[in-house]
Amino acid sequence: MRVAFVGKGGSGKTTLSALFSRYVAARGGPVIAVDADINQHLGMILGVDEDDLPAAMGAHLREIKEYLRGSNPRIASAEAMVKTTPPGRGSRLLRLGEATDEIHRRFAVTTPEGPGLMVTGPFDEDDLGVACYHSKVGAVELYLNHLVDGPGEYVVVDMTAGADSFASGLFTRFDLTYLVAEPTRQGVSVYRQYRDYAAEFGVRIAVVGNKVQGPEDVEFLRSHVGADLLTWFEHSRSVRALEQGRAFRLDDLEPANLDALALLLKHLDAQEKDWERFGRQAVEFHLRNAAAWANRATGQDLAAQVDPEFVFGPAALGSHPDAGSHADAGSHPDAGSHADVASAPMEPAASLA
Ligand SMILES: Nc1ncnc2c1ncn2[C@@H]1O[C@H](COP(=O)(O)OP(=O)(O)O)[C@@H](O)[C@H]1O
Ligand SMILES: [Mg+2]
Repeated sequence: MRVAFVGKGGSGKTTLSALFSRYVAARGGPVIAVDADINQHLGMILGVDEDDLPAAMGAHLREIKEYLRGSNPRIASAEAMVKTTPPGRGSRLLRLGEATDEIHRRFAVTTPEGPGLMVTGPFDEDDLGVACYHSKVGAVELYLNHLVDGPGEYVVVDMTAGADSFASGLFTRFDLTYLVAEPTRQGVSVYRQYRDYAAEFGVRIAVVGNKVQGPEDVEFLRSHVGADLLTWFEHSRSVRALEQGRAFRLDDLEPANLDALALLLKHLDAQEKDWERFGRQAVEFHLRNAAAWANRATGQDLAAQVDPEFVFGPAALGSHPDAGSHADAGSHPDAGSHADVASAPMEPAASLA
């Protein structure tokens, strides 16, 4: 299951992503937390020293594309692959249960409390435009498009609610999106925009209040978001320990906040996987991006990258013994061991906007 935490800067996306990831890890589920927020500090909150952070996916887009395209004949080269290029037969697919593929091995580290961590690396507002071929956040979209996750396996993305995620389709790559909102007018201001996009694309959202200090805060949230309010976190003294790098156990959380974490997991687990929508929208947004800018940027007709025979979801894994790492295992003897990939030159982080 994939869940995104979105919201305004300072609302608590990173804090709640970290707490939720730790909560899920404590229950035994494989979980990868992905830092795709504009201020990268999920690693810090998860207790990872700066020197131990994983390689930034956004700085190795070419390498990631080279690996994921595998032997897919519709993708001629990594250069022809953009952030929305969907997998097809021959593409390499990723799994969480046995995350032994090149992408997880190279870009994920295990944090002290259990969750895995992947990071886009630093980016700024300029990286968030629609016509951004080298979007750092695009690495997350590629990752999610090639990931076949099952029940009891989790990806938690700490994400900026920016124009890029709407234009590229990133916001449609989740089973559920938690919109974190403080009980202030600023706090609820992104709600309407997100709700409208979500409704248009059948994306499931729920609002999670944060830093709530009393019943009037809950009333305020309810009056602005109505039934979309799933639960809320109280203003927590113990969360400060996370920021200060002091020892922090989930049990240190106030009981109401622990209950809220339990509810987030329960609600996520209750979502039905909809691989049909996932695949249809992957194609839809790719065609849209191809027409808007990507055909021009690559000099190719990227609509031809869509494999009409490819079925998203577990079906794509097939029945081959090594199918876990490969959508078309039969024709690719070296799946999962691309030693040459690691030395591929880095893609320049320039924008073609
Ligand atoms: N429930 C909470 N109680 C107390 N402080 C909180 C809570 N949630 C977040 N904070 C604090 O608010 C600040 C912003 O949170 P952060 O998670 O970094 O927001 P975002 O990632 O949305 O920018 C941090 O200092 C964090 O410790
Ligand atoms: Mg943050």
